[in-house]
Amino acid sequence: MHKSIDTFLNKNICGDCLEVMRTMPDESVDLIVTSPPYNLKNSTGNGMKDGRGGKWANAALINGYANYGDCMPADEYAKWQRDCLTEMFRLLKNDGAIFYNHKWRVQAGLLQDRQDIVSGFPIRQIIIWRRKGGINFNAGYFLPTYEVIYMITKPDFKLAKGANSYGDVWEFTQEMKNPHPAPFPIAMIDRIIQSTNAKIVLDPFMGSGTTAIAALQNDRYFIGIEKSQEYVEMANRRIAENDRQSQMKW
Ligand SMILES: C[S@@+](CC[C@H](N)C(=O)[O-])C[C@H]1O[C@@H](n2cnc3c(N)ncnc32)[C@H](O)[C@@H]1O
Repeated sequence: MHKSIDTFLNKNICGDCLEVMRTMPDESVDLIVTSPPYNLKNSTGNGMKDGRGGKWANAALINGYANYGDCMPADEYAKWQRDCLTEMFRLLKNDGAIFYNHKWRVQAGLLQDRQDIVSGFPIRQIIIWRRKGGINFNAGYFLPTYEVIYMITKPDFKLAKGANSYGDVWEFTQEMKNPHPAPFPIAMIDRIIQSTNAKIVLDPFMGSGTTAIAALQNDRYFIGIEKSQEYVEMANRRIAENDRQSQMKW
């Protein structure tokens, strides 16, 4: 039995995203913006395992997440992410879209382009997020500077007027001051939300609350799900602080 979508609006729920999404009704959200854990600790490269962080610009991720290991066997991880995407797709209205951020990497000489996760879902476009800066201590690799955003859409999805002129390579500097190990830049989520006519925006891996902040500052509703209580509290503090600052502007 699904609960009414109204009971989820502007709430950041602490829990497992699959379990929580299963309590939400079909075709009830307009937009999903999310970045799952990348399974980075399951690495054959030396970037994460030996602690030098050379392959990853955001060295804070070496320490991992607060309450999540990020180290599943590859096939188990792909199945989990497919289950999450299946549930997200069920929740999406017929004119909705999922912006699913992930990272390609080479592992044991093979490109992991995440086809094992996204194949079969209606991907309309791939956006390249070009990150700026970063430090590379590893002389064996060029500094990695991009991630991908899969735009997975239901049939009637349309961009907001004029948004198509942004093109498909977006340059946004990663967040430097956020204590979460893998936050979105707020400006990038602002762009995604402003590129749609969505009213209700879900992020099932809410982390430090970036999607909620961007939704609220664009007068949309957010729904957040996050497994770690520590990050839920971090997000709630950021949301409240952002709200306080925006009220001071009036
Ligand atoms: C890449 S981070 C998201 C960061 C977020 N975009 C931000 O701006 O802060 C992924 C998040 O998923 C959370 N997570 C891991 N497993 C989860 C699950 N089963 N359900 C919900 N959240 C989960 C982690 O704790 C982590 O905060």
